[in-house]
Amino acid sequence: MSEQAQAPSPLTPIPPAPAPEIPPGVARRQFEIIIDGNRVAVAEGATILEAAKKLRIETPTLCFLETLTPVNVCRVCVVELEGSRALVPACSRKVEAGMVIHTDSERVRLSRRVVLEFLASSVEVRTAPQLQEYMKRYAARREKFGPRAATVAQPEKIDNELYVRDYSKCILCYKCVEACGVDAQNTFAISVAGRGFHAHIATEFEIPLTDSACVYCGNCIGVCPTGALMGKTEYDMRKAGTWDESRQTHTETICPYCGVGCELTVDAQAGQIVKVSSPLDHSVTQGNLCIKGRFGWQFTQPKT
Ligand code: SF4
Ligand code: SF4
Ligand code: FES
Repeated sequence: MSEQAQAPSPLTPIPPAPAPEIPPGVARRQFEIIIDGNRVAVAEGATILEAAKKLRIETPTLCFLETLTPVNVCRVCVVELEGSRALVPACSRKVEAGMVIHTDSERVRLSRRVVLEFLASSVEVRTAPQLQEYMKRYAARREKFGPRAATVAQPEKIDNELYVRDYSKCILCYKCVEACGVDAQNTFAISVAGRGFHAHIATEFEIPLTDSACVYCGNCIGVCPTGALMGKTEYDMRKAGTWDESRQTHTETICPYCGVGCELTVDAQAGQIVKVSSPLDHSVTQGNLCIKGRFGWQFTQPKT
């Protein structure tokens, strides 16, 4: 029989498919817990951080970001949980009914202070404003461990025109690794290599970035809390002493390159674009962009 004879006649009515049903939402149980003496009800699955936020308690975080999977590595968010021998990380510990939590006890403050002192004694924190603010809040001293404290000081890696890696500023928060991996980019160009004090962010087999899988989306720059990863324009301007955030304008716009329409925040200084990022709370981009959106704006600048 010919193929044409086997084809369904255009006149044969197609039986209607069952109308798709919206699956019923799963009602989440509400748990009541006590934080710093205040009762709060939160949905099952919420973290202590979210519960504290409901009470307007601001918890310091460094390795946590709403758009990334919590990795629990910085421990600056720890809180005291009654009945638990160890302090628990607020960013990832899920609430359980009846928990009694203290977020500002002497033990919590001391732990946060020591974590910040460890970080600031070994890492350059000049371009980490959030960390500096936490240090003030917890009276953490950079010089606590003396001038002989081991550091991760090393020369910057400048091997491309788009961004600079300065791992003497790296607090090993893993955010860049997560953004490059399953949480956003799925490129896996970077990971954590080494152990203990020698742990560091590296490309596969420590090859130069230019030979690695990196696609220069800059999503790692977008999440880095310390300036260890920085756009080359910002890096050059900081070096020349011309980077001045008080003179910068911030314009929300849409990326013109393709139909996805990612939202951009364009920072300009003295009429020149100096940095492009994307808002973290945007439902589509969640702060992520591709190489064109983040770096493809040089065509707007006069040639020097
Ligand atoms: S620029 Fe993009 S691909 Fe390259 S390391 Fe950063 S996140 Fe990964
Ligand atoms: S380079 Fe930045 S984002 Fe990556 S681990 Fe270091 S501090 Fe975190
Ligand atoms: S913010 Fe919770 S462990 Fe880093």
